[in-house]
Amino acid sequence: MQNSTQSPIHSTDVLVIGSGAAGLSVALRLAHKGKITVLSKAEVTEGSTFYAQGGIAAVLDENDSVDSHVQDTLIAGAGLCNEEAVRYTVEHSREAIEWLIERGVAFSKEDEQYHLTREGGHSQRRIIHSDDATGKAVSTTLVSAVQAESNIHILENYIAVDLITGDKVGLEHQRCQGAYVLNLEKDRVETVRARFVVLATGGASKVYLYTSNPDVASGDGIAMAWRAGCSVANLEFNQFHPTCLFHPQARSFLITEALRGEGALLRRPNGERFMPEYDERAELAPRDIVARTIDHEVKKYGFDCVYLDISHKEPEFVKSHFPTIYQQCLQYGIDITTDPIPVVPAAHYTCGGVRVDTHSRTDVDGLYAVGEVACTGLHGANRMASNSLLECLVYAQSAAQDIEAQWDTIIEPAPLPPWDESQVTDSDEEVVLTHNWHELRQLMWDYVGIVRTDKRLQRAMRRIELLQQEIHEYYSNFKVSNDLIELRNLVLVAELIVKCAMQRQESRGLHFTLDYPEQSKTAEDSVLNPE
Ligand code: FAD
Ligand code: SIN
Repeated sequence: MQNSTQSPIHSTDVLVIGSGAAGLSVALRLAHKGKITVLSKAEVTEGSTFYAQGGIAAVLDENDSVDSHVQDTLIAGAGLCNEEAVRYTVEHSREAIEWLIERGVAFSKEDEQYHLTREGGHSQRRIIHSDDATGKAVSTTLVSAVQAESNIHILENYIAVDLITGDKVGLEHQRCQGAYVLNLEKDRVETVRARFVVLATGGASKVYLYTSNPDVASGDGIAMAWRAGCSVANLEFNQFHPTCLFHPQARSFLITEALRGEGALLRRPNGERFMPEYDERAELAPRDIVARTIDHEVKKYGFDCVYLDISHKEPEFVKSHFPTIYQQCLQYGIDITTDPIPVVPAAHYTCGGVRVDTHSRTDVDGLYAVGEVACTGLHGANRMASNSLLECLVYAQSAAQDIEAQWDTIIEPAPLPPWDESQVTDSDEEVVLTHNWHELRQLMWDYVGIVRTDKRLQRAMRRIELLQQEIHEYYSNFKVSNDLIELRNLVLVAELIVKCAMQRQESRGLHFTLDYPEQSKTAEDSVLNPE
């Protein structure tokens, strides 16, 4: 159907915004019910899922138990996990892995058994993986499965601009009705009407200058949900991965924690180990501790980086377990079977997000959030390695079940007004966006990074407010573009991160501040509600 300005209006039962593990799993779980439209702002595989390395945590070994996985997650989460969410996730872990195996994901085997590796915080070997490129195996398998479903329609190179809620189009109720989406190839905003909308847009680590994440991780879902009236929580808990490759030509390349799980050691430039001086779990301490220790070492001694060394292991073992990292490092002249790997921490995962219940429901009727965009309570103040792909899979199923239960009672939304471009023109100076984008990411890195203080947070907030004004002005006057949409979202998410960080007057998990170095006795989520 066309509207008067010939900009298409799409109608669908379920609109899924995002094509990572979360979005594609929701789509596949609902494909038998009706029409599912999946939006992807870049190529369908582009997202953090594709780049995941280590694997997926699940209780699969006979010596492991649900209680043990729950316990490890609670310890890593530093007192802030929702135990019900943790138990729910872990209890569904085996089923989630079996579902992936049935779809065809080829996990690595040794002696005919699935090989389980170890990562920080886990007291057991429980990470099922596909060599060191688990995300690629999951993503490509799910994409093939989705492409084989006639009920699922993938719209690639479409970026959602904003959700449409009832109150914004003159209805009495706030229920989500769909979204305005920019068709990047045709450069026009189209309308998608949907009975149910699922946000599966991933995280916001792109708000930092240095990150392991791909460019799409710009917090769009968190910002759209906030503007639509959803509460958000725990956004101060930005996880910095301790070991990203430090090399002038390497952009965002992660060196998996599984390397440490299989015995790699962290060393100073002179070859000395340092982790045992800080934590008895040494290289396998939870990620926040390892990242903070590296940050401390680098700043204290003025190193450019530290080194991760697995050269003491048999070369064949290293090459067969970590073929992707071996090849990638070789391209930069580093042979990991003989040379230590230069590494630094980088922003990696957004532990907080849009608040949801165990059915993945947000505060807005008809709107769900699944995957990294959501805050389920699983991760608390610090996500344990490889629990996030698991969360995507488990909560995709819970969202699908909830949608299915309401399928027959929710009618198609009324016609929606088309996107109004009557007040805007083409941009006069796109370069302003690039400048603002750089400024924002630099200030977040400098003032809202691994170690914080009240003064640094205040400094960040003043600069964010100024950027907000400039970006708002730009958005009000010019046509939307991919960069403008992302920047508008990132600056909002930056503000929400700093607000959450200012609320937390203690150090806990991933939030460490020199002004309140101790953990307080009571543990509370930092919740923000839109007015
Ligand atoms: P993503 O996979 O990031 O997908 C987001 C999707 O949303 C993309 O399709 C994107 O195009 C789309 N999108 C975003 N905004 C819009 C918009 N406005 N309009 C339309 N589409 C939009 N976790 C583990 O458990 N184990 C690991 O081994 C592991 N390794 C990792 C390694 C790396 C390098 C990285 C970056 C992360 C890793 N993680 C790992 C974390 C994990 O990969 C992510 O948390 C998880 O994949 C997130 O999945 P998702 O479906 O929520 O989002
Ligand atoms: C890694 O492989 O180190 C990343 C695992 C994760 O982020 O869960």
